[in-house]
Amino acid sequence: MIVCSCNVLSDHDVRSAVEAEQTRSTSRVYGCLGCSAQCGRCARTVRRIMDEALGSAHAASCNGRARSSEP
Ligand code: FES
Repeated sequence: MIVCSCNVLSDHDVRSAVEAEQTRSTSRVYGCLGCSAQCGRCARTVRRIMDEALGSAHAASCNGRARSSEP
């Protein structure tokens, strides 16, 4: 699914960049994909995909145990 129409980036593109860069910086994700944020409409969606990707990477690094979302 296309998540950034300005740069024609898919959710898969964002996940791949996050996994390659292991970063919490949206600008580094755009940079890794050879572009930069334009209108900013996709920022929240890109951030959510990043959080999910980094969350699953963290869970995998903790012997596959899922993190609890409970406080
Ligand atoms: S939709 Fe991503 S910068 Fe515009």
